[in-house]
Amino acid sequence: RWEGEAEIDYVFKVVVVGDSAVGKTQLLSRFTRDEFALDSKSTIGVEFQTRTLTLHRKRVKAQIWDTAGQERYVRPVVLDRAPPSILYILTFTARRRCVARRTPVMRPMPGPVQLDVYRAVTSAYYRGALGAMVVYDVTRRATFEHVSRWVEELRAHADGSSTVVALIGNKADMPAARREVAADEAARLAEEQGLFFSEASALTGDNVERAFLTLLEEVF
Ligand code: GTP
Repeated sequence: RWEGEAEIDYVFKVVVVGDSAVGKTQLLSRFTRDEFALDSKSTIGVEFQTRTLTLHRKRVKAQIWDTAGQERYVRPVVLDRAPPSILYILTFTARRRCVARRTPVMRPMPGPVQLDVYRAVTSAYYRGALGAMVVYDVTRRATFEHVSRWVEELRAHADGSSTVVALIGNKADMPAARREVAADEAARLAEEQGLFFSEASALTGDNVERAFLTLLEEVF
């Protein structure tokens, strides 16, 4: 069926973030096209997919942005102290590591520190996002441990607290023996951080539709 822009009442921008290979792209194609590609390649740069649906009798176009989880991490750098010419904002995290963002401002920095340097794609990617999904892989604990960092980045760049955020534990189809993150542990983290939480599987489609719809409903 032809769908002209004229029929659309709202466009909701949703961003999907998380470490590389957690299944962001597959969750998107499951939701927008009900497809799962077995030979999925790592996302390069930023892409978006859309799906138009009806919510409360309004036509809503969900524009869901996908970015590479991996491409954005550049490298760790250890510095004795900040060189004067470098154009980064240094944000201290709990473990005395930093996230560096390219900007013309810099805070003084004491002692030797390790910086995790990320490419500054953030502002354009997050701008105007009404909803966000932070995805981890239930079979890789490290991807869960990075969730707080993704949430921090979202809160810093999206429109503050008004962005609705869902935490998604993907690959719930994997055998129990492969699991490294229990659902109740993730549910606790979600509650602490004020996020919606659901496990899902892009492979089987379990909970994918429900997770996206809950998020869009909440944005609405
Ligand atoms: P980047 O683009 O590198 O950030 O990765 P991504 O998060 O978009 O991951 P992608 O969707 O490309 O999936 C990574 C791998 O996980 C692929 O081999 C997928 O086939 C696999 N995968 C994704 N979702 C699922 C799932 O629900 N279950 C299982 N078993 N495998 C999945």
